[in-house]
Amino acid sequence: MITKMNDPGTVAIEACGLTKRFADVLAVDRVDFDVREGEVFGFLGPNGAGKTTTINMLTGLARPTAGTIRYFGRDVTQNRKKAQHLMGVVPDESNLYPELTGHENLCFCASLYGMRKREREDRARRLLDLFDLADAAGRKFAVYSKGMKRKLVIAAGIIHNPPILFLDEPTTGIDVPSARQIRQMLADLKSQGTTIFLTTHYIEEAERLCERIAFIVDGKLVKLDTLNNLVRDIQNQHVVEFTLSGCDTDLTGPLQNAFSDGTFERISDTVLRMRTDQPVHLAPLVRFLEDRSVDVTEARIIRPSLEDVFVAVTGIELERMRSEKDKGGRGR
Ligand SMILES: Nc1ncnc2c1ncn2[C@@H]1O[C@H](COP(=O)(O)OP(=O)(O)OP(=O)(O)O)[C@@H](O)[C@H]1O
Ligand SMILES: [Mg+2]
Repeated sequence: MITKMNDPGTVAIEACGLTKRFADVLAVDRVDFDVREGEVFGFLGPNGAGKTTTINMLTGLARPTAGTIRYFGRDVTQNRKKAQHLMGVVPDESNLYPELTGHENLCFCASLYGMRKREREDRARRLLDLFDLADAAGRKFAVYSKGMKRKLVIAAGIIHNPPILFLDEPTTGIDVPSARQIRQMLADLKSQGTTIFLTTHYIEEAERLCERIAFIVDGKLVKLDTLNNLVRDIQNQHVVEFTLSGCDTDLTGPLQNAFSDGTFERISDTVLRMRTDQPVHLAPLVRFLEDRSVDVTEARIIRPSLEDVFVAVTGIELERMRSEKDKGGRGR
Protein backbone atom coordinates (compact mmCIF):
# COMPACT_ATOMS: atom_id res chain seq x y z
CA MET A 1 0.00 0.00 0.00
CA ILE A 2 1.26 3.47 -0.89
CA THR A 3 1.46 5.97 1.94
CA LYS A 4 0.86 9.67 1.76
CA MET A 5 3.82 11.84 2.72
CA ASN A 6 2.24 14.97 4.25
CA ASP A 7 5.29 16.96 3.38
CA PRO A 8 4.84 20.25 1.54
CA GLY A 9 6.41 20.04 -1.89
CA THR A 10 5.83 16.30 -2.11
CA VAL A 11 4.79 15.18 -5.55
CA ALA A 12 1.49 13.34 -5.20
CA ILE A 13 0.94 12.37 -8.84
CA GLU A 14 3.48 12.19 -11.58
CA ALA A 15 2.71 11.49 -15.23
CA CYS A 16 5.58 10.95 -17.59
CA GLY A 17 5.15 10.56 -21.36
CA LEU A 18 1.53 9.58 -20.78
CA THR A 19 -0.03 8.49 -24.07
CA LYS A 20 -3.32 6.95 -25.13
CA ARG A 21 -4.13 5.82 -28.62
CA PHE A 22 -7.60 4.60 -29.67
CA ALA A 23 -7.19 2.97 -33.10
CA ASP A 24 -6.36 5.96 -35.29
CA VAL A 25 -7.00 8.62 -32.63
CA LEU A 26 -4.09 9.82 -30.55
CA ALA A 27 -6.21 11.03 -27.62
CA VAL A 28 -3.32 11.87 -25.27
CA ASP A 29 0.13 12.47 -26.69
CA ARG A 30 3.24 12.18 -24.47
CA VAL A 31 1.93 14.32 -21.63
CA ASP A 32 4.23 15.15 -18.68
CA PHE A 33 3.14 16.81 -15.46
CA ASP A 34 3.23 16.46 -11.72
CA VAL A 35 0.68 17.40 -9.12
CA ARG A 36 2.01 18.47 -5.74
CA GLU A 37 0.43 17.42 -2.53
CA GLY A 38 -2.27 19.87 -1.40
CA GLU A 39 -2.53 21.83 -4.63
CA VAL A 40 -5.48 22.31 -6.97
CA PHE A 41 -4.22 21.40 -10.41
CA GLY A 42 -6.34 22.24 -13.45
CA PHE A 43 -6.48 20.60 -16.84
CA LEU A 44 -8.03 23.15 -19.17
CA GLY A 45 -9.01 22.41 -22.75
CA PRO A 46 -11.84 22.29 -25.29
CA ASN A 47 -14.01 19.29 -26.23
CA GLY A 48 -12.03 16.28 -27.33
CA ALA A 49 -8.74 17.64 -25.96
CA GLY A 50 -8.01 14.47 -23.96
CA LYS A 51 -9.03 15.55 -20.45
CA THR A 52 -11.28 12.60 -19.62
CA THR A 53 -8.87 10.13 -21.18
CA THR A 54 -6.09 11.50 -18.97
CA ILE A 55 -8.22 11.22 -15.81
CA ASN A 56 -9.22 7.70 -16.82
CA MET A 57 -5.58 6.68 -17.13
CA LEU A 58 -4.65 8.28 -13.81
CA THR A 59 -7.51 6.59 -11.98
CA GLY A 60 -7.21 3.17 -13.55
CA LEU A 61 -10.20 3.23 -15.90
CA ALA A 62 -8.02 3.21 -19.01
CA ARG A 63 -4.68 1.61 -19.66
CA PRO A 64 -2.01 3.95 -21.02
CA THR A 65 -0.57 3.07 -24.43
CA ALA A 66 2.75 4.43 -23.18
CA GLY A 67 4.20 6.41 -20.31
CA THR A 68 4.34 6.02 -16.56
CA ILE A 69 2.18 7.09 -13.62
CA ARG A 70 3.56 7.47 -10.11
CA TYR A 71 1.74 8.16 -6.88
CA PHE A 72 3.96 9.49 -4.09
CA GLY A 73 6.98 8.27 -6.01
CA ARG A 74 5.73 4.69 -6.55
CA ASP A 75 5.24 3.48 -10.10
CA VAL A 76 1.65 2.28 -10.43
CA THR A 77 1.39 2.24 -14.22
CA GLN A 78 0.75 -1.48 -14.34
CA ASN A 79 -1.33 -1.64 -11.17
CA ARG A 80 -3.36 1.43 -10.28
CA LYS A 81 -5.11 -0.61 -7.56
CA LYS A 82 -2.07 0.10 -5.39
CA ALA A 83 -3.15 3.73 -5.27
CA GLN A 84 -6.93 3.24 -5.25
CA HIS A 85 -7.28 3.90 -1.51
CA LEU A 86 -5.68 7.34 -1.98
CA MET A 87 -8.16 8.64 -4.52
CA GLY A 88 -11.71 9.78 -4.90
CA VAL A 89 -13.07 10.04 -8.41
CA VAL A 90 -15.90 12.23 -9.64
CA PRO A 91 -16.53 11.21 -13.26
CA ASP A 92 -18.17 13.50 -15.80
CA GLU A 93 -21.19 11.22 -15.87
CA SER A 94 -23.03 9.58 -13.04
CA ASN A 95 -21.67 6.34 -11.68
CA LEU A 96 -24.46 5.85 -9.11
CA TYR A 97 -27.46 3.52 -8.97
CA PRO A 98 -30.71 5.09 -10.26
CA GLU A 99 -32.93 2.73 -8.28
CA LEU A 100 -31.27 3.47 -4.94
CA THR A 101 -32.05 6.60 -2.92
CA GLY A 102 -29.45 9.33 -2.40
CA HIS A 103 -28.81 8.06 1.10
CA GLU A 104 -28.56 4.42 0.02
CA ASN A 105 -26.15 5.30 -2.78
CA LEU A 106 -23.81 7.08 -0.38
CA CYS A 107 -24.00 4.28 2.20
CA PHE A 108 -23.28 1.73 -0.52
CA CYS A 109 -20.22 3.66 -1.70
CA ALA A 110 -19.03 3.97 1.90
CA SER A 111 -19.37 0.22 2.36
CA LEU A 112 -17.02 -0.32 -0.61
CA TYR A 113 -14.35 1.45 1.43
CA GLY A 114 -14.98 -0.78 4.42
CA MET A 115 -16.68 1.87 6.56
CA ARG A 116 -18.80 0.50 9.39
CA LYS A 117 -22.57 0.95 9.39
CA ARG A 118 -22.66 3.72 11.98
CA GLU A 119 -19.79 5.60 10.37
CA ARG A 120 -21.26 5.39 6.87
CA GLU A 121 -24.71 6.49 8.04
CA ASP A 122 -23.15 9.50 9.77
CA ARG A 123 -20.94 10.40 6.84
CA ALA A 124 -23.80 10.03 4.34
CA ARG A 125 -26.03 12.28 6.42
CA ARG A 126 -23.32 14.90 6.82
CA LEU A 127 -22.62 15.01 3.10
CA LEU A 128 -26.32 15.17 2.24
CA ASP A 129 -26.59 18.17 4.57
CA LEU A 130 -23.49 19.79 3.12
CA PHE A 131 -24.94 19.65 -0.39
CA ASP A 132 -28.49 20.67 0.62
CA LEU A 133 -29.76 17.23 -0.30
CA ALA A 134 -31.11 16.21 3.09
CA ASP A 135 -34.73 16.63 1.95
CA ALA A 136 -34.06 14.44 -1.08
CA ALA A 137 -32.14 11.77 0.86
CA GLY A 138 -35.01 9.28 0.64
CA ARG A 139 -35.77 9.87 -3.03
CA LYS A 140 -34.47 7.65 -5.79
CA PHE A 141 -31.38 8.95 -7.57
CA ALA A 142 -33.25 8.48 -10.89
CA VAL A 143 -35.61 11.34 -10.07
CA TYR A 144 -32.91 13.79 -8.97
CA SER A 145 -32.37 16.89 -11.12
CA LYS A 146 -29.11 17.24 -13.04
CA GLY A 147 -27.57 19.51 -10.39
CA MET A 148 -28.69 17.23 -7.55
CA LYS A 149 -27.21 14.23 -9.35
CA ARG A 150 -23.93 16.02 -9.84
CA LYS A 151 -23.76 16.95 -6.16
CA LEU A 152 -24.49 13.39 -5.07
CA VAL A 153 -21.81 12.03 -7.42
CA ILE A 154 -19.34 14.44 -5.81
CA ALA A 155 -20.49 13.43 -2.33
CA ALA A 156 -19.91 9.79 -3.30
CA GLY A 157 -16.42 10.69 -4.56
CA ILE A 158 -15.41 12.18 -1.21
CA ILE A 159 -17.27 9.74 1.05
CA HIS A 160 -14.01 8.18 2.28
CA ASN A 161 -12.15 11.50 2.71
CA PRO A 162 -9.62 10.71 -0.01
CA PRO A 163 -6.31 12.61 0.09
CA ILE A 164 -6.45 12.99 -3.71
CA LEU A 165 -9.63 13.95 -5.53
CA PHE A 166 -10.13 13.77 -9.29
CA LEU A 167 -13.03 15.70 -10.77
CA ASP A 168 -13.96 15.63 -14.45
CA GLU A 169 -15.77 18.88 -15.31
CA PRO A 170 -17.55 19.13 -11.96
CA THR A 171 -19.67 22.17 -12.78
CA THR A 172 -20.56 21.55 -16.43
CA GLY A 173 -24.23 21.95 -17.21
CA ILE A 174 -25.52 22.85 -13.77
CA ASP A 175 -27.04 26.04 -12.45
CA VAL A 176 -25.21 28.97 -10.94
CA PRO A 177 -25.93 28.33 -7.23
CA SER A 178 -24.98 24.65 -7.49
CA ALA A 179 -21.77 25.48 -9.36
CA ARG A 180 -20.91 28.03 -6.69
CA GLN A 181 -21.61 25.52 -3.94
CA ILE A 182 -19.32 22.98 -5.61
CA ARG A 183 -16.50 25.50 -6.01
CA GLN A 184 -16.84 26.49 -2.36
CA MET A 185 -16.73 22.84 -1.34
CA LEU A 186 -13.55 22.35 -3.40
CA ALA A 187 -11.96 25.41 -1.78
CA ASP A 188 -12.83 23.94 1.65
CA LEU A 189 -11.34 20.57 0.71
CA LYS A 190 -8.19 22.30 -0.45
CA SER A 191 -7.90 24.18 2.81
CA GLN A 192 -8.12 20.83 4.58
CA GLY A 193 -5.14 19.61 2.53
CA THR A 194 -6.83 17.56 -0.19
CA THR A 195 -4.92 17.37 -3.46
CA ILE A 196 -7.32 18.16 -6.28
CA PHE A 197 -6.98 17.33 -9.98
CA LEU A 198 -9.71 19.05 -11.93
CA THR A 199 -10.60 19.18 -15.60
CA THR A 200 -12.63 22.03 -16.97
CA HIS A 201 -13.32 24.03 -20.08
CA TYR A 202 -14.41 27.04 -18.03
CA ILE A 203 -11.43 29.36 -18.07
CA GLU A 204 -12.81 31.43 -15.19
CA GLU A 205 -13.23 28.29 -13.10
CA ALA A 206 -9.58 27.33 -13.60
CA GLU A 207 -8.61 30.90 -12.78
CA ARG A 208 -10.68 30.93 -9.62
CA LEU A 209 -9.72 27.54 -8.23
CA CYS A 210 -6.40 26.32 -9.54
CA GLU A 211 -2.88 27.11 -8.46
CA ARG A 212 -1.31 25.50 -11.47
CA ILE A 213 -2.96 25.03 -14.81
CA ALA A 214 -2.13 22.89 -17.82
CA PHE A 215 -3.59 23.78 -21.22
CA ILE A 216 -4.39 20.66 -23.21
CA VAL A 217 -5.26 20.82 -26.90
CA ASP A 218 -5.55 17.86 -29.31
CA GLY A 219 -3.98 15.54 -26.75
CA LYS A 220 -0.93 17.70 -26.24
CA LEU A 221 -0.03 19.66 -23.16
CA VAL A 222 0.83 23.04 -24.64
CA LYS A 223 1.49 25.04 -21.47
CA LEU A 224 1.81 24.37 -17.77
CA ASP A 225 2.50 26.94 -15.10
CA THR A 226 1.18 28.65 -12.02
CA LEU A 227 -1.76 30.95 -12.56
CA ASN A 228 0.44 33.88 -11.47
CA ASN A 229 3.18 33.07 -13.96
CA LEU A 230 0.72 32.48 -16.77
CA VAL A 231 -0.89 35.84 -16.26
CA ARG A 232 2.44 37.60 -15.60
CA ASP A 233 3.52 36.63 -19.13
CA ILE A 234 1.08 39.13 -20.54
CA GLN A 235 1.07 41.53 -17.61
CA ASN A 236 3.22 44.06 -19.46
CA GLN A 237 0.13 44.78 -21.54
CA HIS A 238 -1.89 47.73 -20.33
CA VAL A 239 -5.51 47.82 -21.33
CA VAL A 240 -7.76 50.77 -20.57
CA GLU A 241 -11.42 51.08 -21.46
CA PHE A 242 -12.95 54.52 -21.79
CA THR A 243 -16.66 55.15 -21.58
CA LEU A 244 -17.49 58.19 -23.66
CA SER A 245 -20.45 60.45 -24.14
CA GLY A 246 -21.05 62.83 -27.03
CA CYS A 247 -18.86 60.76 -29.35
CA ASP A 248 -20.65 60.70 -32.71
CA THR A 249 -17.63 60.07 -34.91
CA ASP A 250 -15.07 57.31 -34.83
CA LEU A 251 -11.97 58.86 -33.29
CA THR A 252 -9.77 55.77 -33.39
CA GLY A 253 -7.80 57.09 -36.40
CA PRO A 254 -6.96 60.51 -34.90
CA LEU A 255 -6.22 58.88 -31.53
CA GLN A 256 -3.88 56.42 -33.21
CA ASN A 257 -2.01 59.29 -34.89
CA ALA A 258 -1.75 61.30 -31.69
CA PHE A 259 -0.83 58.42 -29.36
CA SER A 260 1.22 56.07 -31.49
CA ASP A 261 2.27 53.88 -28.51
CA GLY A 262 -1.21 52.43 -28.26
CA THR A 263 -3.72 50.64 -30.40
CA PHE A 264 -7.30 51.79 -30.20
CA GLU A 265 -10.44 49.80 -30.77
CA ARG A 266 -14.04 50.93 -30.62
CA ILE A 267 -15.88 48.27 -28.63
CA SER A 268 -19.32 49.91 -28.89
CA ASP A 269 -20.82 53.33 -29.57
CA THR A 270 -19.73 54.50 -26.14
CA VAL A 271 -16.74 52.31 -25.26
CA LEU A 272 -13.23 52.69 -26.57
CA ARG A 273 -10.38 50.32 -25.70
CA MET A 274 -6.69 51.15 -25.71
CA ARG A 275 -3.90 48.58 -25.52
CA THR A 276 -0.28 49.47 -25.02
CA ASP A 277 2.85 48.05 -23.48
CA GLN A 278 3.63 51.43 -21.88
CA PRO A 279 2.02 52.85 -18.73
CA VAL A 280 -1.00 54.89 -19.79
CA HIS A 281 -1.04 58.62 -19.02
CA LEU A 282 -4.68 59.44 -18.81
CA ALA A 283 -4.62 63.25 -18.70
CA PRO A 284 -3.44 63.91 -22.30
CA LEU A 285 -5.89 61.35 -23.62
CA VAL A 286 -8.82 62.83 -21.75
CA ARG A 287 -7.79 66.30 -22.88
CA PHE A 288 -7.54 65.16 -26.49
CA LEU A 289 -11.07 63.79 -26.34
CA GLU A 290 -12.50 66.79 -24.48
CA ASP A 291 -10.99 69.14 -27.09
CA ARG A 292 -13.22 67.28 -29.56
CA SER A 293 -16.31 67.72 -27.35
CA VAL A 294 -16.25 64.13 -26.12
CA ASP A 295 -16.75 63.55 -22.39
CA VAL A 296 -14.88 60.70 -20.72
CA THR A 297 -17.34 59.46 -18.10
CA GLU A 298 -15.21 56.52 -16.97
CA ALA A 299 -11.73 55.09 -17.52
CA ARG A 300 -11.20 51.52 -16.38
CA ILE A 301 -7.93 49.61 -16.25
CA ILE A 302 -8.53 46.03 -17.38
CA ARG A 303 -6.32 43.35 -15.85
CA PRO A 304 -5.22 40.78 -18.41
CA SER A 305 -6.90 37.52 -17.52
CA LEU A 306 -6.26 33.84 -18.06
CA GLU A 307 -8.57 34.08 -21.07
CA ASP A 308 -6.06 36.36 -22.80
CA VAL A 309 -3.23 33.94 -22.00
CA PHE A 310 -5.24 30.95 -23.20
CA VAL A 311 -6.01 32.61 -26.53
CA ALA A 312 -2.41 33.75 -26.95
CA VAL A 313 -0.96 30.30 -26.20
CA THR A 314 -3.44 27.98 -27.90
CA GLY A 315 -4.79 30.18 -30.69
CA ILE A 316 -8.24 28.87 -29.75
CA GLU A 317 -10.94 31.52 -29.96
CA LEU A 318 -12.80 32.19 -26.73
CA GLU A 319 -16.02 31.64 -28.63
CA ARG A 320 -15.06 28.00 -29.10
CA MET A 321 -14.49 27.52 -25.38
CA ARG A 322 -17.61 29.53 -24.54
CA SER A 323 -19.85 27.65 -26.91
CA GLU A 324 -18.79 24.43 -25.17
CA LYS A 325 -20.52 25.73 -22.09
CA ASP A 326 -23.83 25.38 -23.80
CA LYS A 327 -23.45 21.69 -24.47
CA GLY A 328 -24.94 20.78 -21.11
CA GLY A 329 -26.72 23.95 -20.08
CA ARG A 330 -25.57 27.03 -18.25
CA GLY A 331 -22.41 26.41 -16.33
CA ARG A 332 -21.84 29.57 -14.35
N1 LIG B 1 -13.10 4.86 -26.09
C1 LIG B 1 -12.72 5.63 -27.10
N2 LIG B 1 -12.58 5.15 -28.34
C2 LIG B 1 -12.16 5.91 -29.37
N3 LIG B 1 -11.84 7.22 -29.25
C3 LIG B 1 -11.97 7.77 -28.03
C4 LIG B 1 -12.41 7.01 -26.89
N4 LIG B 1 -12.43 7.83 -25.81
C5 LIG B 1 -12.03 9.04 -26.27
N5 LIG B 1 -11.76 9.01 -27.58
C6 LIG B 1 -11.26 10.13 -28.40
O1 LIG B 1 -10.16 10.70 -27.74
C7 LIG B 1 -10.17 12.12 -27.86
C8 LIG B 1 -10.14 12.73 -26.48
O2 LIG B 1 -11.38 12.48 -25.83
P1 LIG B 1 -11.68 12.90 -24.33
O3 LIG B 1 -13.00 12.34 -23.96
O4 LIG B 1 -10.51 12.54 -23.49
O5 LIG B 1 -11.75 14.50 -24.47
P2 LIG B 1 -12.19 15.57 -23.37
O6 LIG B 1 -11.10 16.58 -23.33
O7 LIG B 1 -12.56 14.91 -22.11
O8 LIG B 1 -13.45 16.24 -24.08
P3 LIG B 1 -14.84 16.80 -23.42
O9 LIG B 1 -14.57 18.23 -23.05
O10 LIG B 1 -15.79 16.71 -24.56
O11 LIG B 1 -15.21 15.94 -22.27
C9 LIG B 1 -11.40 12.45 -28.68
O12 LIG B 1 -11.01 12.59 -30.01
C10 LIG B 1 -12.29 11.24 -28.50
O13 LIG B 1 -13.12 11.05 -29.62
MG1 LIG C 1 -14.32 14.88 -21.01
